[in-house]
Amino acid sequence: MYPLRRNRRLRTTPAIRAMVRETSLSPDDFLTPLFIVEGKGVKEEIPSMQGYYRLSLDFISKEVNQLWDLGLKAVLLFVKVPDVLKDNTGKEALNRKGLMQRAIKTIKDACPDMCVLTDVALDPYSSFGHDGIVEKGQILNDPTVEILSAMSVSHAEAGADMVAPSDMMDGRILGIRNALDAAGFENTGIMSYSAKYASAFYGPFRDALDSAPADNADVPSDKKTYQMDPGNRREAFLETAADIEEGADIVMVKPGLCYLDIVRDLREAFDVPIAVYQVSGEYAMVKAAAARGWLDHDSVMMEQLTGIKRAGADMIATYFAKEASLFLNS
Ligand code: PBG
Repeated sequence: MYPLRRNRRLRTTPAIRAMVRETSLSPDDFLTPLFIVEGKGVKEEIPSMQGYYRLSLDFISKEVNQLWDLGLKAVLLFVKVPDVLKDNTGKEALNRKGLMQRAIKTIKDACPDMCVLTDVALDPYSSFGHDGIVEKGQILNDPTVEILSAMSVSHAEAGADMVAPSDMMDGRILGIRNALDAAGFENTGIMSYSAKYASAFYGPFRDALDSAPADNADVPSDKKTYQMDPGNRREAFLETAADIEEGADIVMVKPGLCYLDIVRDLREAFDVPIAVYQVSGEYAMVKAAAARGWLDHDSVMMEQLTGIKRAGADMIATYFAKEASLFLNS
């Protein structure tokens, strides 16, 4: 009771504040997303993601070593697939010499200790920009799970440490787990995008990979029949419990800031590690406001990441991984 208890005492100096700080960040907390393109010497800035690039494999080798030197130990791979290789079933995803498969090998050669997680979903490979096979205006569930399972095995064969299904089909974790085990990859992990919401914050990412759902009257123009409704909270338990039961090693909430209540809910309900994806639109907003001088970039970046961790994230997939690590190391 005041004046015996003065809460401000513990805020008096930087040393005391550091001593009583409950949440702190380190590069160990971050997964770094990488956008990979065909070609040589390609480094293209993504217009809606200032300071973030699509890189060709030669640049990726250098990049992963730089990340490692900053203390970043995990990368999350996304590929931009040329239009001519896209179709409805995403069969290019199974090409042993495909861009993803080559990227995994390139990174493992360049930086063998780096943890390589791969995106598993059809959208970069789909002529319709959907995460699954489209038929008569519907996204087919079970046939998609079969392809995702084969895709996961293909990534494991190329050397991925973990696969990260981001598609939201029902039953895909079980399908993938069984396929990996049957192929002898029982130690390849699964990080499941388990509570992934149908969010407008994915816009810049779809620019980066040219993967927005098609503008075509026969195909849904959004992903609301598989990604979750932003209004739903209980459903996040259902989705996450199912994924854990089916064998997910790590579960994920996505996006970050608008969904921190879900992160806290899941943290209290489950004991598996929880990842949060601070998505492209969240990154873009900070960059845009900072460029106008309306927000202080580094302070806002660190405050957002701290908030995500405080809510219960064990790890954060973030486009700020490098900048935040530089900040933490400085
Ligand atoms: C698609 C996928 C998306 C993201 C990661 N994987 C977009 C989508 O669901 O349309 C978004 C990531 C971001 O916005 O940063 N499988």
